[in-house]
Amino acid sequence: MKLWGGRFSKATDGLVDDFHSSISFDQRLYEQDIQGSIAHATMLGEQGIISKEDADQIVSGLRGILQDARDGKIQWHVDAEDIHMNVESLLTERIGEAGKRLHTGRSRNDQVALDTHMYAKVACMDTIHMLEDLIEVLLDTAEKHLHTIMPGYTHMQKAQPITLAHHLMAYAQMFLRDRERFRHAYAAADVMPLGSGALAGTTFPLNRTRVAELLGFSSITMNSLDGVADRDYLLDYMSSASICMMHLSRFCEEMILWNTNEFHFVEMDDAFSTGSSIMPQKKNPDVAELIRGKTGRVYGDLMALLTTMKGLPLAYNKDMQEDKEAFFDARDTVVKSLMVFTAMLRTVTFRTADMERGASGGFTNATDLADYLVRQGVPFRDAHRVVGELVAHCIAENKTLLDLTLPELQQFHPAFESDVYEAISMKACVERRNIPGAPAPDMVMQSIQDARSRLAQ
Ligand code: ARG
Repeated sequence: MKLWGGRFSKATDGLVDDFHSSISFDQRLYEQDIQGSIAHATMLGEQGIISKEDADQIVSGLRGILQDARDGKIQWHVDAEDIHMNVESLLTERIGEAGKRLHTGRSRNDQVALDTHMYAKVACMDTIHMLEDLIEVLLDTAEKHLHTIMPGYTHMQKAQPITLAHHLMAYAQMFLRDRERFRHAYAAADVMPLGSGALAGTTFPLNRTRVAELLGFSSITMNSLDGVADRDYLLDYMSSASICMMHLSRFCEEMILWNTNEFHFVEMDDAFSTGSSIMPQKKNPDVAELIRGKTGRVYGDLMALLTTMKGLPLAYNKDMQEDKEAFFDARDTVVKSLMVFTAMLRTVTFRTADMERGASGGFTNATDLADYLVRQGVPFRDAHRVVGELVAHCIAENKTLLDLTLPELQQFHPAFESDVYEAISMKACVERRNIPGAPAPDMVMQSIQDARSRLAQ
């Protein structure tokens, strides 16, 4: 008979058992479920709601189940529906009468909320650690390439010279923001919902703060309806995960482009590339492509839960059981993607000579030539037009701006002097951009130091 079978005169249809059971996926919560029950039983005993002896028996019974579950010795059952009832029936099977007192003053509604709050905290910590590993690799790599010049792009057209360090540090900023978002998701999960009961709390004098303390929560929820109906903490995680995947995906897209024969800016390590079944020459950046592809999957997980939640009246509704698969999938995908991406980035070879060559084509120093004229007293709008005319001239003559002779330059404007060549060398273009946030090596070094101190917090 079901744990709730008292008012039923018929067994559940086999189709229904199979359809509504969540044990196939919520067994992943066994650790949180059992730890939560240990804390609940301990508190019930301390409050005199159940006897000290019963509480002790329950706690040691649960510890035994936890150990067996960790050792993979437990067979979970579909007809016990979910992880909560599986643990409770197993406990009663093992310790008898006392096991039946565990659920005093509690509902599966606040129990599942407790379990997922606990699991979300662990997921946030795991994700934050992965992000920190990635950020460290970025900072170390950036520090090695403070002087590696490469073209910066807008509209996928060469724009102005930057450095590889500057480009990598752009991603470091994104991942630092992601880290803050996961910290916020952690704080949202770090509120203890047990004691919300089914929806309206309980008549027993539970010490909720004690349960929070036993389980390492910072505070308790303040409304029992919200305590069981809220899934914001999972949505916070999943929206952070979606944004983080978007960042990874942009980075992957650039790695894929840079790895092409046309760009030739990076070479992916053999260990992070794959071959073709027909074309013997192929070496494909599958890892980066797959991360880019999995981004859609995490967005889908977020959309699925947002959509599940949008029409739900208070408080708990069974629809909410759909939270777990989406959340677990998002967590697994983002953690794995971060892990693989970091390992891939560690082994990438940057073709610095090709990057520097890339920067010298495409008139990336045109703005600097205009800025030169401005320093000579020419209004910027005029300078912009003069340099535009020079670029058109160079295109017609198949030259770069640095190829032009001084008399040639002076035909376009008399303000050009012999120091112009130094002013528009790639090195000068980068080094003169030396305000905070700009690509000059000193400034990028400051941003690396700033990132290091933020990481240490
Ligand atoms: N398996 C359920 C879930 O994941 C647990 C809560 C069930 N509560 C209920 N009243 N049916 O949401």
